[in-house]
Amino acid sequence: MELGKNYAEVKAGINIALIKYWGKRDTLNNLPAVGSLSITLAPWGSTTRFTWVAGAQHRFSLNGAEQNDTKVLKLIKEIQTYAGLNEYGAHIESVNTVPTAAGLASSASGMAALGLASWCAAGLPYSKTQIPQKLIDLVRIGSGSAPRSLLGGFVTFDRDGCTLRQLRKASEWSLCLLVAVVSKGPKEVSSRLGMERTRDTSPYFKAWIESHPADLQQAEEAILRKDLEALGEVMEHSTAKMHACAWSSRPPLLYLKGTSLNVLESVHQLRAQGIGAWATMDAGPHVKILCEPKDQNLIIKTLTALDGVLEVLTLTPGEGAEVLTSCSSLT
Ligand code: PMV
Repeated sequence: MELGKNYAEVKAGINIALIKYWGKRDTLNNLPAVGSLSITLAPWGSTTRFTWVAGAQHRFSLNGAEQNDTKVLKLIKEIQTYAGLNEYGAHIESVNTVPTAAGLASSASGMAALGLASWCAAGLPYSKTQIPQKLIDLVRIGSGSAPRSLLGGFVTFDRDGCTLRQLRKASEWSLCLLVAVVSKGPKEVSSRLGMERTRDTSPYFKAWIESHPADLQQAEEAILRKDLEALGEVMEHSTAKMHACAWSSRPPLLYLKGTSLNVLESVHQLRAQGIGAWATMDAGPHVKILCEPKDQNLIIKTLTALDGVLEVLTLTPGEGAEVLTSCSSLT
């Protein structure tokens, strides 16, 4: 790690949305058109070491490779302005433990870890039990799904105030989220561009926005009751609507591959046989399956046997972002 007085190291887990964020109401400020609800997960995530260095150029490496990432630069600029650190350069070393595949939410854990590390390295006050709204806003500028990784367990992100709320701690509900990996390599259209195209061209976007609050409410109630069937049902509904919107964009955004559809069909068949398994997908071809630990092995065996499924990995609810070390004399 870079030696310097003003540094922090932060670890954050990925999160997967059960009720999706898709669409922005303000692109410049990255404000979401809808709220969202997610699970923060373990063990995948990002660990970021951030140092403010007087008079230096910004430097950002991801998994050891130097990067020039506009979203990261935008976040750094915002925090520099907020904390009065325009004379300082940001030295950032980030490591992702998320397998390098498309649509696996590494940007969320990366931005959450980076935002919190920059905050602590600047000496700004931080409390895990009451996350500063300004920090949430900074992280959101990096990625709209990233603030949710600041909290652990089951988390909602409110559309209007962009506030975060933990509905249940990770330890309160023992669930699994299995990831059926169906391809390697980067996705074809980023979520940022996909959201813009959907908003600008899909005839279903208005219906997506209007029907979204009811999904959030049903999911929240299901989590409070620990009702997996109700949660799974509304999660699948939200996923289907998001992908229907994307698919009905011009030109169409088809994040699913043939194998993704086969996995979805297999999940439906498992459910018809009485196995509690529900599927969700993000802006990529992988399918994530929500289930109870008791059904995990059977589901993994079934999905691994499908043509085109490369592997099925297991995640479980995890903790929110954690400050591993921090030292600052800046503010
Ligand atoms: O935060 P972004 O810009 O990577 O968008 C995330 C979008 C989805 O993953 C598809 C949904 C979500 O709520 O995480």
